Amino acid sequence: MALRRIDNLPEQEEKNMNETIRTILSRRSVREYSDKPIPEDLLDQILSCAQAAPSGMNRQACQFTVLSGKALSGLLRAVRVDALHSPDSFWRNAAAADDFNFFYNAPVFIIASADPARDPLTPIEDGAIALENMMIAAASLGVSSCWIHSLVMINPLREGRAYLDSLGLPVNHRIIGSISLGYASGEIPERPPLEGNRIVEAS
Ligand SMILES: Cc1cc2nc3c(=O)[nH]c(=O)nc-3n(C[C@H](O)[C@H](O)[C@H](O)COP(=O)(O)O)c2cc1C
Repeated sequence: MALRRIDNLPEQEEKNMNETIRTILSRRSVREYSDKPIPEDLLDQILSCAQAAPSGMNRQACQFTVLSGKALSGLLRAVRVDALHSPDSFWRNAAAADDFNFFYNAPVFIIASADPARDPLTPIEDGAIALENMMIAAASLGVSSCWIHSLVMINPLREGRAYLDSLGLPVNHRIIGSISLGYASGEIPERPPLEGNRIVEAS
C-alpha cells in the first residue's frame, strides 16, 4: 500500500508543474485577512466557477449567497446572539470574546445552500464541490479562503437564519457550508506534509 507523495517536489519540478495542479497543491486555509476588497471582476470569476461545478443529475440546485459590508456585519451580530445562547460551551465562550468573528474578518463570505426538495439526493456533494471550485479559483487569482462551518455547527441558528432569510436565503434551504474570501494579511504558511488520505492502487 503506497502513499503517493508529490507535495515535496524539488523546486525545479514545481516550477514546471501544470498551473492548475500547482494551485491545488499550494492552496491553504487562511484565517487572517486584510481589509483590501476583492475586485468585482475577480469575485465574478470565482462565482462563475461555483456555477460551473458538476452536480448530481446536473440539477444545479445550489444557491450561493454572497455577503460583504453591512450585510456581513449584520450576519456576525445575528450569529453571535445564536452562539451566545448555544447549548455548546465552545460557542458560548467563543461568542463572549470581544473579537468574536467566525469568518476571520474576511471582506467576503459566501454561503452554499440548497432546497432539499429540489435537490433531494446530492445537496451536500453539490454544495461542497462548488465551494471547493471557488477556493481553487480564488487561490489561482491570489485570493485566499477558508471553509467556515460555523453556520452548520451553531445549533440552533435562529437569529442567523432569520437574518439570512431577510437577505434572500430561504429558510427551507439547507446550508451546506460557507467560505471566507479575501487577501491574506500575512505570510501564507507552507503546507505541512500530507500524510492522511491514502491512495490504494490495484491493477
Ligand atoms: C468541511 C470542512 C469544514 C471546515 N470548517 C472549518 C471551520 O469551521 N473553521 C476553520 O477555520 N477551518 C475550517 N476548515 C478548514 C480546515 O481546517 C483545513 O482545510 C484543514 O486544516 C487543512 O488545511 P489547509 O486547507 O490549509 O490545507 C474546514 C474544512 C472543511 C473541508
